[in-house]
Amino acid sequence: MSRKIIEMRNISKSYDSKADVLSHLDFTVYEGDYVIIKGKSGSGKSTLLNIIGLLDKHSSGDYIFLDKEIKLKANAEYDTLRGNNIGFVFQSYNLIENYTVLDNIFMPFLYSTNKITSKILNDTNDLLEELDLAQLKHQAVKFLSGGEKQRCAIARAVVSNPRLVIADEPTGNLDGENASIISKQFRKLANNKTTVIVVTHSDHLFQNADIFYELRQGRLWNNAI
Ligand SMILES: Nc1ncnc2c1ncn2[C@@H]1O[C@H](COP(=O)(O)OP(=O)(O)OP(=O)(O)O)[C@@H](O)[C@H]1O
Ligand SMILES: [Mg+2]
Repeated sequence: MSRKIIEMRNISKSYDSKADVLSHLDFTVYEGDYVIIKGKSGSGKSTLLNIIGLLDKHSSGDYIFLDKEIKLKANAEYDTLRGNNIGFVFQSYNLIENYTVLDNIFMPFLYSTNKITSKILNDTNDLLEELDLAQLKHQAVKFLSGGEKQRCAIARAVVSNPRLVIADEPTGNLDGENASIISKQFRKLANNKTTVIVVTHSDHLFQNADIFYELRQGRLWNNAI
């Protein structure tokens, strides 16, 4: 039986005491699962990913990440837990424009107690080839196209081989060919026991995933395709 990575029970979230964005949501995810979540704009997908990724807090309910109960009170320990275990691809990239591709890719190590090993340096070269970024590694991000930036953000999220990769619309700026490069990358991660959770509408990502949900009325509904 695979290890449980995420367990959410009865999770609700509201901003500024307005109506619930997430409402009594349950979600369980295992090691190596490749999960796709879709849902209308404003349905709460980014909200859910931010809570899963320890960037925001739920308002009520139980969230257990890697056997640790995530309490509502802020705790610096959660930053380390995130830095060591979670790679995040943001809807808006969040790259540092003046830094090179390589400098951006190695940023997560600033927030992690993991070290850059020679294996990671080797794997990074492979990763850059797979994501078609090898020629651009010394280029400042501000000179890249939207799709190249998105692939760079994906490289950054996966470079430290995290247990969980979370991606918010990672194919928003990619054509079909690039979307399938990324889809293959996520499948490979999941085959190597990384858990992958992706918000997307892309058919390319659907093809390779294991589990599908739709976020609607603040809850996740199964078999959403
Ligand atoms: N920081 C915030 N403060 C107040 N309200 C917020 C905040 N972030 C999100 N919301 C509200 O919560 C709801 C869900 O937003 P969210 O960004 O999670 O949706 P989404 O499904 O990711 O949408 P999209 O597909 O457009 O990215 C929206 O009504 C949004 O206005
Ligand atoms: Mg969003």
